[in-house]
Amino acid sequence: MLLYIHIPFCDSKCHYCAFNSYTSLHYLRDKYIKSLCRQLIFELKNLPKDIIKTVFIGGGTPSTLSLKHYEEIFDILNPYLTNTEEITIEANPNSATLSWLEDMYGLGINRISFGVQSFDDEKLEFLGRNHTAKMAITAIQNAKKVGFEHINCDIIYDTKLDNKMLLNSDLDIIRSLPIDHISAYSLTLEEGTKFFDKSNVRVEDIDMANYLFHRLEEIGFYQYEISNFARTENAKSKHNLGYWKYEEYLGVGAGAVGCIGGKRLYNHKDVNMYIENPTTYDYTEELTTEDIKVEKVLLGLRSEVGVDKNVLSDKELIQVNNLEQSGKIKFKNNSRFYSVDFMLADELALYILE
Ligand SMILES: C[S@@+](CC[C@H](N)C(=O)[O-])C[C@H]1O[C@@H](n2cnc3c(N)ncnc32)[C@H](O)[C@@H]1O
Ligand code: SF4
Repeated sequence: MLLYIHIPFCDSKCHYCAFNSYTSLHYLRDKYIKSLCRQLIFELKNLPKDIIKTVFIGGGTPSTLSLKHYEEIFDILNPYLTNTEEITIEANPNSATLSWLEDMYGLGINRISFGVQSFDDEKLEFLGRNHTAKMAITAIQNAKKVGFEHINCDIIYDTKLDNKMLLNSDLDIIRSLPIDHISAYSLTLEEGTKFFDKSNVRVEDIDMANYLFHRLEEIGFYQYEISNFARTENAKSKHNLGYWKYEEYLGVGAGAVGCIGGKRLYNHKDVNMYIENPTTYDYTEELTTEDIKVEKVLLGLRSEVGVDKNVLSDKELIQVNNLEQSGKIKFKNNSRFYSVDFMLADELALYILE
């Protein structure tokens, strides 16, 4: 089982981001952690101690919280971490100080994911980031110094400022840093953000995206999911692979979602509501066999996980055979099929399930 923990605080709101995060609720941090701990105890109490395979502490910005908050969480979690392979925490370069990184490493966190977006100061300002490229470089170097072996950088492409020169300059810096994973996201214009009604900030350019992916491979980052690239087999995110393999997960914190026994469990999104009601879900959703099939096909085709052909009907398998004939998918061991180009995954899924 996977465990996701949500931290809904940020120091500033980026122009593109619609995540469940707030800049004016820092005063609720202590209360929030108390409620989050109550939910953790509630969710874990009847589970075997060795059940948690991976933990992902995401946000918002987990580096807005200090050691004392995480100590409260880990006091509860530690007995359940006997079999845990990966614990990731997200961090923003503006708040991931050397001492914070040391504290997180000391708790047993073994993977860190920095929201960097770019190493170009003009692009960082355009995206509304509250750090410079130099701060991101220092944070990454500090993480390595502290002992983190697995370091991810999120980057954003498809912005109006992107061109080959800018991407190449970012890639030169990436190549020189101790990063073993890149998550590269196409900019999306989300409702409720500064960018939402500014369609000119986004320039979708499939050739530029393919160029970026090709250059990432050239410098040693291999694509194993539509947005994810790893330098080695061991650098792949085990937590995210778990989602794509459709493993069960617990979601703890405001707006976090769990998926257990074919049911999706939605926590209260509003931070105050969550603080008051951490052990009742806002709502739950029973997944149908059809829902599960669609998700398995979509997630499987977007990643190296692939799709088990047994989940499909005879009619759908005929479509799969057509795609195999045209070279768009490949079978392994005659039982699972894989997308040749992850960028075409949604199109292929639509064709198979039409
Ligand atoms: C929770 S944040 C990472 C940690 C920290 N909050 C930070 O930003 O440094 C998750 C990532 O999602 C990506 N993201 C969020 N909204 C996006 C959007 N509209 N388009 C593309 N990427 C987005 C960014 O790359 C961001 O780093
Ligand atoms: S991208 Fe990260 S720092 Fe920026 S608003 Fe979203 S969660 Fe907060």
